[in-house]
Amino acid sequence: MDKLVISGGNPLVGRVKISGAKNAALPLMAATLLTRGKNRLANVPNLRDVRTMGRLLTTLGAKVNTRTDRIYIDTGGADGDEAPYELVKTMRASVLVLGPLVARRGVARVSLPGGCAIGERPIDQHLKGLEAMGCKVKLEGGYVLAEAKRLKGADIAMDLVTVTGTENLVMAACLAKGTSIIRNAAREPEVVDLCNALSEAGAEIRGAGTGTITIQGVKELAPLDHRVMPDRIEAGTYMAAAGITRGELTIVDAPLEHLTSVVGKLKEAGIRFQPTPKGLVVSARRAPRPVSIITGPYPGFPTDLQAQLMALMCLNSGSAVFQETIFENRFMHVSELRRLGAEIEVTGSTAVVKGVRGLKGAQVMATDLRASACLVLAALAAEGETHISRVYHLDRGYESIDQKLTSAGATVRREAEAGP
Ligand code: EPU
Repeated sequence: MDKLVISGGNPLVGRVKISGAKNAALPLMAATLLTRGKNRLANVPNLRDVRTMGRLLTTLGAKVNTRTDRIYIDTGGADGDEAPYELVKTMRASVLVLGPLVARRGVARVSLPGGCAIGERPIDQHLKGLEAMGCKVKLEGGYVLAEAKRLKGADIAMDLVTVTGTENLVMAACLAKGTSIIRNAAREPEVVDLCNALSEAGAEIRGAGTGTITIQGVKELAPLDHRVMPDRIEAGTYMAAAGITRGELTIVDAPLEHLTSVVGKLKEAGIRFQPTPKGLVVSARRAPRPVSIITGPYPGFPTDLQAQLMALMCLNSGSAVFQETIFENRFMHVSELRRLGAEIEVTGSTAVVKGVRGLKGAQVMATDLRASACLVLAALAAEGETHISRVYHLDRGYESIDQKLTSAGATVRREAEAGP
């Protein structure tokens, strides 16, 4: 296991290029199972989760080849139907193969993902939607067994907004007989990217990006050939990095159109944004002003940036309030931020962050992907050295983060961590 050692206190100055979005790449890779043939995805980030999805597709019989940021997935011989526990337990997004497998193979055995560090995360809405499409669903030995000769279009009202739930049902509905309507659908840009790729391959989808998505099933889809959208969460993280270090980063390929709520909050905090031909220049000179954040489904403030904004707010000039509405346990970073000197009180799903003048390096532990990013940000601003253990979480979702930060002047090194 690796740890990161960060010597904080330098303003970050330089250029950072945003990679393709993890949460768009994963459903797109799963969607290749709807096709038979040679799929090509470009701008795919080199991440642990992407490699895990590649392994899962290989287990299902697909041939997966990676060349720099391109992935070629040949699904011609993808005749498997089981997503095994060993892979699903390392990545919940494995559940995204469920919809495509039942739609194309008529049968799927997918290990139940179980809870994780940030919350329970059930998949009842995925299953309810598939059942509405005529799928027989059983839970047996920790696996979901799903079967349907051919799925039938259905009118599905989701009880809550779920991103991968919407994606699973959209993918399933593409090959169903008849029309499906998904109400209370997720509007996240990653859902839209998936729908665009499917439409390019012959699917008939209307309403992506709105709360109601209508899918007219077709007999077959052509292989996907798509460029993955840039990662809005990675971009937001580097914006917060410029803010917390009072530096100036030129962010290349930042998908500003998907970051309206985030940029709004950062501007309120006093961070400056200047679009230039070379990229988006994000800079800050002084302590951030306090802002209050309530996470919500898109276009609300993303839960995946809550922890990073909290790191920034540790140094605010007053008191900032955070309300987490998506996951029940997404304040795991709070106790670690306190080790660096932050003053944060948590009551239920609300955290109040009282700004302090400075943070001091310490030993901390990463508990999940976004909590790790939050600790990296805090460490970049803290005086002295911070040792962040369990950075494998970070490697699931941030491509080359050490190199990107180092090239902007951060002092970051990766060390092998001694075992227990
Ligand atoms: N939920 C249910 N039942 C369901 C599905 C979801 O109760 O059947 C609940 C969840 O427990 C949660 C809420 O609904 O409380 C929303 O969860 P959602 O299903 O939208 O989350 P997800 O699809 O599992 C995706 C991202 C997450 C991101 C969330 C919210 C991917 C691969 N993952 O997860 O990304 O936090 O949407 O935006 O797209 C990350 O990248 O760090 C990450 C965790």
